[in-house]
Amino acid sequence: MYILGISCYFHDAAAALIKDGKLIAAAEEERFSRVKHDFGFPENAINFCLDYAGISGEDLEYAVFYEKPFHKFERILMTTLQNFPKSWKVFREAMITWLGDKLWVKSHIKDKLDIEEKKILFGEHHLSHAASAFYPSPFEEAAILTVDGVGEWTTATVSIGRGTEIKLLKEIKFPHSLGLLYSAFTAFLGFKVNNGEYKVMGMAPYGEPRYVDRIYDNLIKVASDGSFWVNMDYFSYHYSDERTYNVKFEDLFGKPRDPEMNFFTSNTRFPSYFGEKPSNYKELCRENEHFANIAASIQRVTEEVLLKLVNTLYKETGMKNLCIAGGVGLNSKANGRILRETPFEELFIQPSAGDGGGALGAALHIYHGLLGKPRAFVLEHAYWGKEYSENEIKEFLESNNISYEYISEDERLFDRLVDDLLGGKVVGWFQGRFEWGPRALGNRSILADPRSEEMKDLVNIKIKFREPFRPFAPVILEENTKDFFYGNNIAEQFPARYMLFVLPLKESRAETINAVNHMGTGRLQTIREEWNPRYYRIVKKFGEATGIPVLLNTSFNLRGEPIVNSPANAFNTFNKSGIDVLVLENFMIRK
Ligand SMILES: [Fe+2]
Repeated sequence: MYILGISCYFHDAAAALIKDGKLIAAAEEERFSRVKHDFGFPENAINFCLDYAGISGEDLEYAVFYEKPFHKFERILMTTLQNFPKSWKVFREAMITWLGDKLWVKSHIKDKLDIEEKKILFGEHHLSHAASAFYPSPFEEAAILTVDGVGEWTTATVSIGRGTEIKLLKEIKFPHSLGLLYSAFTAFLGFKVNNGEYKVMGMAPYGEPRYVDRIYDNLIKVASDGSFWVNMDYFSYHYSDERTYNVKFEDLFGKPRDPEMNFFTSNTRFPSYFGEKPSNYKELCRENEHFANIAASIQRVTEEVLLKLVNTLYKETGMKNLCIAGGVGLNSKANGRILRETPFEELFIQPSAGDGGGALGAALHIYHGLLGKPRAFVLEHAYWGKEYSENEIKEFLESNNISYEYISEDERLFDRLVDDLLGGKVVGWFQGRFEWGPRALGNRSILADPRSEEMKDLVNIKIKFREPFRPFAPVILEENTKDFFYGNNIAEQFPARYMLFVLPLKESRAETINAVNHMGTGRLQTIREEWNPRYYRIVKKFGEATGIPVLLNTSFNLRGEPIVNSPANAFNTFNKSGIDVLVLENFMIRK
């Protein structure tokens, strides 16, 4: 029985196909359309899923959309009307896009898949999140927390999953939203909403959380069980789609950060690609430190609210396992604290914890929640996207006159790569099916030597051009994780394999991997041979050569572009950037 899940029209559009409850294929639309965070109808992702399974729309038992468009439309209608005339612009825009497109999801799906209307179902946004976290987990029973910006009306839920059932315990509704509060600060700090949240998280360690009280006194009231109320006097996200906060907010925190301003403090480096050091360097450092203090404060508040919610959930359910989903579930710093500071023993978060993942959750919910079919699937890895055969790669290279070397023996290829890495080269690494979710986890990755701090600048100069506060992540052999990081049984925790924890580095080891050491912490990815044998072998061989079983792993893309999908995307990225060596399966291409 095939069920197709679809999410779109808000954040990341995606499709996921399950067969008898097991995931077959899943992908975000941006990988195909090459539009970052593409939220349009995921035509390409749907085609890919069906092609991968070798089926067409008429073979589907059901197609399910991850939320209820009419309920969401109702929320937008109600809130814009309540805030009229301030909200007239949003109201007008909403009428145009909703009446013109978004409300007609059903007919889009019907046209696209050519299936009967009765086979098209609609999930609920937060239930899709909860289902995406619980059903593919290894747990027979677990507490579930979902937190995001907003779905139809709901912004956070706590529930219990048992077998095939998910039971909602409590929910918090719009406009009270931890995700939207965080996004308001994201905008204030000069980053794009729904895109720059992780930059706020990256900036936070460079500041002191000096404004925590100011946030609690004015912006959000939090009860001891973690329930919260946002004071809408300071925000405009309920009546504007251009601004998320208002003048009163600026009275509290001062002028917003100019998005064009380079970020550096006395604790960050001043990278060469920023050009000459400005004459008022010290003054600019202080200015940036103020913004870092604000980032640290909202990050701290977010962590505290989540810890309260999770501790209450533990008390109320007595369960040992916790599943998390929703955009806030991608806050890996908060996840690390949940792991280390709450009594839950095991955590599960799937790699596409944001809205894209709702496609997977919606499909699984039909199979288990609605049809009551038993669970038979655990999401052991993130490799569910499209792959390219050696023939396809060869054809691409030859038809474009690209010279390559074909190294059929893996071990010989890996030895060559380790030599390159030791020589300070940056490697573009492409193999197998691309990853589900926003992180590159060893199939579309850029790899480099993690040992020296200079490698951060080198990778940035060669390809990423990122702000110096944004961390690069370490991939580490599962068996060596505890030597480098603090945390309980990290290696066994699923979020670690999906790069969803930030954890403190052990002081004795922190200095040995400075390129991936972010103020004494790291957003690690653990790797086991059975999940990705070739990726594992490279890290292992690098460890044998250096005593450091770690590599720097960053996503294979140019700044502002989605992660590469095809050999052509990978080659173009290689060509336009300073990447030294490109590996497409067993084909090696050098500059
Ligand atoms: Fe969501």
